[in-house]
Amino acid sequence: MSKTGAFDLASGVGGKIEKDDVLSAVDKYEKYHVYYGGEEQGRKSNYTDMVNKYYDLVTSFYEFGWGESFHFAHRWNGESLRESIKRHEHFLALQLELKPGQKVLDVGCGIGGPLREISRFSSTSVTGLNNNEYQITRGKELNRIAGVDKTCNFIKADFMKMPMPDNSFDAVYAIEATCHAPDAVGCYKEIYRVLKPGQHFAAYEWCMTDAFDPDNQDHQKIKSEIELGDGLPDIRSTRQCLDALKKAGFEVIWERDLAPDSPVPWYLPLDTNHFSFSSFRLTSVGRFFTRNLVKSLEYVGLAPKGSLRVQSFLEKAAEGLVEGGRREIFTPMYFFVARKPLSPSE
Ligand SMILES: C[S@@+](CC[C@H](N)C(=O)[O-])C[C@H]1O[C@@H](n2cnc3c(N)ncnc32)[C@H](O)[C@@H]1O
Repeated sequence: MSKTGAFDLASGVGGKIEKDDVLSAVDKYEKYHVYYGGEEQGRKSNYTDMVNKYYDLVTSFYEFGWGESFHFAHRWNGESLRESIKRHEHFLALQLELKPGQKVLDVGCGIGGPLREISRFSSTSVTGLNNNEYQITRGKELNRIAGVDKTCNFIKADFMKMPMPDNSFDAVYAIEATCHAPDAVGCYKEIYRVLKPGQHFAAYEWCMTDAFDPDNQDHQKIKSEIELGDGLPDIRSTRQCLDALKKAGFEVIWERDLAPDSPVPWYLPLDTNHFSFSSFRLTSVGRFFTRNLVKSLEYVGLAPKGSLRVQSFLEKAAEGLVEGGRREIFTPMYFFVARKPLSPSE
């Protein structure tokens, strides 16, 4: 069962960080970002520390508000958020043409929501790679409860240097995770290395679109709000991602930003003008309750000091994401399917 109660949220803040150290971790995390005077180079050279702090701090909030899968989704009218999230995962599995029994790698797997869904949908064995120990602990528990612990597993490692041999997997995917890589070419090269020749890699990437203007101060503010609120070193453009795939050796089969095709905007659940009973905790009323709940739990000592600050930077992220989505300068679903050639000269 997913941990979605208020006490689960409170006790989970900080993940593997000692409860007394949560506040200073928030301080250190914030200082990496432009908003607090941080620089891109600092975020890139310290990406492991920055990203791990971020996920230790936010995982219980994500699980509380969003569920087991930590990503956005293309959504049809009449579809619930939960249904759209599952369909987004099924779409990826179909594009990869997964076959029963195949060995699949999920790069940056969170607590394994997509991994469990995709493995059950396609009867494959999925390995989740993640550098965050707290998320892996949660993921193992959830795999056991879901009954997929015999076929699916987790590896704690950095996706910039994976501990697996060359040509190990029949397919690889990444959902809203490789945006954390300090260098896209380096990350895609590692994926290329562990993928079997002739097989496919598919991903949903977080990107700035062609509508993003680097000279526009408003655009830059939105970009830095998203980076701060989501633990990102520097959000790449769709073109940079495409270029990085080719530099890593992939043949790009198809690529497209799926956001403009989504009848219900992907950012709607975070939009404070929107109300929904099914995703109540994400609405402005729901967030108001969560904020006060976290404040009270922190006050009485049930949530570590610093918890409210985490809630605040997540709200900043939500503002940036909604604005970025509304202006179409940012997308969380730049999708591509890429193939590793049978030989480098193919
Ligand atoms: C937004 S979450 C998405 C999780 C998952 N794909 C999902 O959709 O539920 C990004 C994930 O990438 C992982 N991650 C970030 N940087 C990583 C790195 N260098 N190596 C391995 N995992 C990383 C984080 O720990 C987190 O689990």
